This record gives sequence, structure tokens and C-alpha cells, in this order.
Amino acid sequence: MIVKIKRQENSDSKAYWQSFKYNGNMDTTVAAVLDFLNYNDDLFDTEGNPARRIRWECSCMQKTCGACAMIINGMPALACNTFLRNISSKELVLEPLRKFPVVSDLIVDRSIIYENLKKAELYIGEYAGADKKEYEQQYQTAKCLKCGLCLEVCPNYNKGETFFGAMFANDSYISYTQSESRKKEIASEYKKHFASGCSKSLACVDICPVQIPTLASIGRMNKKIF
Ligand code: FES
Repeated sequence: MIVKIKRQENSDSKAYWQSFKYNGNMDTTVAAVLDFLNYNDDLFDTEGNPARRIRWECSCMQKTCGACAMIINGMPALACNTFLRNISSKELVLEPLRKFPVVSDLIVDRSIIYENLKKAELYIGEYAGADKKEYEQQYQTAKCLKCGLCLEVCPNYNKGETFFGAMFANDSYISYTQSESRKKEIASEYKKHFASGCSKSLACVDICPVQIPTLASIGRMNKKIF
């Protein structure tokens, strides 16, 4: 299999494409392919030129941390959860996520996700106590990996603008339903950074690697605050 990777030394340098031959096990993941290429003694591209190691991020390797999010054959996905057997093309094309600044190769800077949460001051203040009616939805929603895939596919999310995307809606829902003292503030931030900008394309629901029921979070929030 040919592995074509969009590479970039650092945030200021120019991007370029480089291809590698992969002749390892085909019953494996994209993450394992990257490991296989990097752990060879020396790395050469398909032209036989020496190449530097491929930079990419991972931690858990089991769909739990979200670090390995990238674009795989045109689709945003987690490398550790994408299997070669599900890729019909003979070529594997890897690119960094497009809505975040590139740090190097397949690594992007997703700190804006946390900056936006800080900006909206999404903390609960005084705890409201447990509400059994919200348990299941809170539990499902709390699985968010902050991988950024939902922002990558969202037609309304653009870095630096006021719309913060699906993960913000889910975090708002959790904070709102657990807060006693800050419900008003959280509702106001939700309206400003989510409700006023969502066009319900729901691409975020389809792409989520942990199947967060975002639509239910939005429905519950809207019912409570409008
Ligand atoms: S390495 Fe953690 S989600 Fe892929």
C-alpha cells in the first residue's frame, strides 16, 4: 500500500506531499501503519530519499483520548480507530485537520477548544445535586474526547468566530444541568455561542467517534431555556 502524507516541518514552513511504501500487516489500523513506518531503522520515501520521522499525536490507541484525529482519505477520523480493511483505495492519504493550525505534519494545535470554554466561563458554581432524569444523557455527553472532529465537519464553525460548535453545546448541557447558581449565565453563553449559530446540519452527530447524542443535548437545553 502507498501511504501519502501531507507534511509540514513547522507552522511557518510550506506544506508538501511525501509518499511511503507500507508492506506490513493489512489487518491493522492507520495508527499502526504510522508506527510501522516510524519504527523502521531508517525512513525512505517511495523515491528512495531519506525522510524524517512522521510527526503525529497519540496516547491511548483505543479511541479514548482523541489525540490521533486527522483526515484519512478525505474524511476526518481517528487513526487508531480506522482499519485498513475498511479502506477500499490502494492508497492511504493522510492530512492534518484543516480547521486548526498545523504544528508539524499531522499534529495540530487544538487549544482553541479549551480557550473557548474558558472564554465562556463554563463552570457550574454551586452544585445543584444529582438529577436522575439527566443521568443517562450526562453520562453519554461526558464521553466527549475533545478530538475536534465535530468542528472539522461543521459548516458553521470557523476559528475565531463566535460559534463554538457541538462540543460547546454538550458541555453547556452538562454544566447547566449540574449548576445551581450559574444557570442564567450558562444559558446566555449557550445562546450566544451555539444556539444562534447552529444550522442543524448535524454532521457533528454522524462524525462523532463516540456517538455522543448531541441532538438530545440540544433538545434538552432548548426546552429548558427557551
Ligand atoms: S490515540 Fe487516543 S483516540 Fe486515538
